Amino acid sequence: MNARETVIKIVGVPQHTPTNEAITTFAPVNIALIKYWGKRDDQLNLPVTNSLSIALPTKGTTTTIRINHTTHDTYWLNGESVDKNSEFFNRLHYFCDLFRFHPSYHFDIDTKNNIPTAAGLASSASGFAALTLAFNQLFRLTLEKSELSILARLGSGSACRSLWDGCVEWEKGQREDGLDSFAHPYEAATSFLDSIGVGLLIFAKEKKKMSSRDAMLTTVKTSPLYSQWSKHVEQDLTDIKRAMSQHDFIRFGEIAEKNALAMHNTMLTSEPSINYCNASTLHYREKIWALRKTKCPIYFTQDAGPNIKLLFQKESLSVVKEEFPSAEIIFLSR
Ligand code: PMV
Repeated sequence: MNARETVIKIVGVPQHTPTNEAITTFAPVNIALIKYWGKRDDQLNLPVTNSLSIALPTKGTTTTIRINHTTHDTYWLNGESVDKNSEFFNRLHYFCDLFRFHPSYHFDIDTKNNIPTAAGLASSASGFAALTLAFNQLFRLTLEKSELSILARLGSGSACRSLWDGCVEWEKGQREDGLDSFAHPYEAATSFLDSIGVGLLIFAKEKKKMSSRDAMLTTVKTSPLYSQWSKHVEQDLTDIKRAMSQHDFIRFGEIAEKNALAMHNTMLTSEPSINYCNASTLHYREKIWALRKTKCPIYFTQDAGPNIKLLFQKESLSVVKEEFPSAEIIFLSR
């Protein structure tokens, strides 16, 4: 099954006529505590393992879509027209083609992120999730969240987790067509997460060196550590769920941090080596480890970019503010 067939399978026979109204949607950024790294199907973005994330309720993507009556789509990102020769343009175009239920349909898409784009802060996840929600409304598809999650996954794997607030688990699924590979809320974590803060330490705003798609492919193909990765993830998922149910923040932080480091170490051992860290990443990692010894439990996670996301409890807020004055702080409870 290819991506287009997946869309048809989910939305049915494509006779959908779009509304002429402009539709605006929002989807939150999600940060993986247990990472998705590696695909079993590159076209359908089917993962090798389950993954678990938390949404940042106020950070994400707002997208406005309307049908235009010309012969081509127009895409705007943060107020600027998207360069037709860019990789981002191609990804958007590919995704829009999946929803072009009639060749005459063209779309104006205006998308705004309130976090830096493509710097390992999951803007593609919130972006494709917001766009999926927009297509759902534009064509009045009234799909279930699980179906929207499958469709968002076709744009970017982690986008399938950006349709909910709170803690979300993405089931890897077994099927080759991926119809059992979608996300759902992990409600058992809700009361624990109410007391957790995330600090975004954004010291690098430039676009990442290598897309996560290419980096995953290279890691799966060449890293000698990759064969261990799915075992790690399974264990980490079980352990972090237990830690959250026991309100054990230290264990929670240890597992999330260890999982992120294992992902980065796995890709470092690829051929060629993939390194998303810079000198500031290493500096802040050291600082966090030192603070843990002297002040209070602060942990971190890191995605496909140099920036660091702090994980801490409400009672450590004053230390976080003092030690990381540039960090943008977000609490997970609304
Ligand atoms: O969905 P992608 O292709 O942007 O990959 C996301 C990869 C990580 O952010 C590093 C991990 C994750 O689970 O979000």
